[in-house]
Amino acid sequence: MTTAVKTPADDIAEILLDADVIKQKVRELGARIADDYAGRDLVLVSILKGALPFLADLMREVPIYCSLDFLEVSSYGAGTTTSGVVRILKDLAKPIEGRHVLVVEDILDTGHTLSYVIEHLRGQHPASLGLCALLDKPARRVVPIGVDYKGFEIPDKFVVGYGLDFAERYRNLPFIGVLKPEVYAGLT
Ligand code: PRP
Repeated sequence: MTTAVKTPADDIAEILLDADVIKQKVRELGARIADDYAGRDLVLVSILKGALPFLADLMREVPIYCSLDFLEVSSYGAGTTTSGVVRILKDLAKPIEGRHVLVVEDILDTGHTLSYVIEHLRGQHPASLGLCALLDKPARRVVPIGVDYKGFEIPDKFVVGYGLDFAERYRNLPFIGVLKPEVYAGLT
């Protein structure tokens, strides 16, 4: 008799947003972005690593000329709460001066990360600076931020999947779910 190997999905207590629901929302956001930015020099600036699946799906729903660039930023350690201290691990590869920048982010939680990123990018004088966030957890907001393209508002639960991690795991789940508390017990 073989013992079944545990998989990341086994650590999920509840699926909050399944793959079809995410896909539909990404399609809607992409259509709006394509309408708004058609004819402009658009750069999608994604924040690694969490926004990677969202960017990959979103860009294929934005059928206009655009380019990509990446920032890698970190504000979380191995725990489930933000430290509030944001660090740039990798900066943009190309100048954005005079270009239309849309920041693509997976989740807006306390707002520390995006407020830092916005200030960082604004200092480089883009023609415009917009924000697209798949998830918004308003109950946790510390720094007020306006989002131009928002996917879903979600409750104050620790979510993983579709790019979101816990201790670097679960990013590869195709849905967004709530982690079983026993998985992170003792770390919060
Ligand atoms: C996560 C997430 C956002 C940020 C949101 O990134 O991807 O960037 O936290 O939280 P905030 O609004 O409280 O700042 P993380 O620092 O965990 O890095 P990752 O994208 O590599 O997972």
